[in-house]
Amino acid sequence: MVAKVIFLGLVLLATTGYFVAHCEDLETTSDLIADGPRKLLKKRKVHAGSHIQKRAQPNTYDRSGGFNQEEATLLLEQHNKYREIQNASNMLIMEWNSDLQKSAQNYADKCNSKHSPDSDRKQIGGFRKVGENIKLANYKISVTQIVDKWYSEIQYYRYDRNTTRCMTGRTCGHYKQVVWHNSYALGCGIKLCDRVQHAGDKFKNSYVAVCHYGPSGNQRFALPYRKGKPCSLCDKKITPFCIRKMCSSGSKVKQVNVTGSGSGSGSGSPSGSGPSTPQLRIIIIMLTSLATLKVLSKAAF
Ligand SMILES: *[C@@H]1O[C@H](CO)[C@@H](O)[C@H](O)[C@H]1NC(C)=O
Ligand SMILES: *[C@@H]1O[C@H](CO)[C@@H](O)[C@H](O)[C@H]1NC(C)=O
Ligand SMILES: *[C@@H]1O[C@H](CO)[C@@H](O)[C@H](O)[C@H]1NC(C)=O
Repeated sequence: MVAKVIFLGLVLLATTGYFVAHCEDLETTSDLIADGPRKLLKKRKVHAGSHIQKRAQPNTYDRSGGFNQEEATLLLEQHNKYREIQNASNMLIMEWNSDLQKSAQNYADKCNSKHSPDSDRKQIGGFRKVGENIKLANYKISVTQIVDKWYSEIQYYRYDRNTTRCMTGRTCGHYKQVVWHNSYALGCGIKLCDRVQHAGDKFKNSYVAVCHYGPSGNQRFALPYRKGKPCSLCDKKITPFCIRKMCSSGSKVKQVNVTGSGSGSGSGSPSGSGPSTPQLRIIIIMLTSLATLKVLSKAAF
C-alpha cells in the first residue's frame, strides 16, 4: 500500500514536471505567434531550446510597437561601442533623442524600404537635416544585430585612402552614418509589417527598423571623422569632456529616456503573449494531474 502511494506520488511529480517543461516551450511559441510572421514560426524549434538565454538577455523584442527603454539603451550603446573604436580625434558621444525616435517610428510605421524624402527630414529635434538608416529583416533580428549589420559595411570603406567614397559598386553609407563624428543625436523606431513597399515578396511579414541621426552624416565631400589622438579635436566650449574616447557635453553618459508613443516603455514583457497564459497553464497542469491521479488510482486500487 505504502509502495503504491509512493509510486503514485512519483508518477504525479513526473507528469507535472513534464507539463511544466512543455508549457515553457508553448510560451516561447506564443511569443513568436504574437509576432505574426509565419517565417518566425519555422524558427520555433531553434528558439524553444534557447528560451532561458532569451530571457536572460533583453536583446530581442517581441512586439512591433517601437523600442522600449531597454532596447533603446542597447541601440545607443551599440552605436557608441563602434564610435569608440574608430581611433577618431573628433568623435562625439551619441545620446538618445525622443524627437528623432518619434520621427523614426513614424517612418517605420509606413513600412517602406526606401528612404524618406529629404523634405520630411528637415527641422526635426532642432536639426536642420537628419540622417536615416533603414534595416529590413524577415527574421527576428535583435536590436544589436541591426547596428552590427550597418557597421559591417566598414569592409567597403577605406579610410586610409583618404576618400569619402565607398569601394566601387558597394554600399557603405550606413556604416559612415553610424560613425559620423558629429551625428550625436540618435532615435530609432521599428515596425513589423505585413508587406514592405518596394521590397517584394521576400519581405512579407518583416521588420522595418529605422534610425534617425542629428545632424545628418554622409556629407558629400567630408570624411566621417578624423583619425588621431582621442578627443584632441573636440570643441572644448561645447564638449569639454572626454568619455570613452569621445567628446561629450557632460561628465557622465546621458541616460536614455523613452516616454510614451506606445513603445511599451520600460516593461520588458511582450504585450502580445496573452494575459492569462500563466494562470491557464497552472489550471491545465492541475487538471491533468487530477485526471492522471484518478486513472491511476482506478487501475491501482
Ligand atoms: C584603431 O587602432 C588600432 C591600433 O592601431 C587598430 O588595431 C584598429 O584597427 C583601429 N581601428 C579602426 C576602426 O581603424
Ligand atoms: C586628404 O584629401 C584632402 C582633400 O582631397 C586633402 O586636403 C588632404 O590633404 C588629404 N589628406 C591626406 C592625409 O592625404
Ligand atoms: C524622462 O523624461 C520625462 C519627460 O520629459 C521626465 O518627466 C522624466 O523625469 C525623465 N526621466 C528620467 C529618468 O530622466
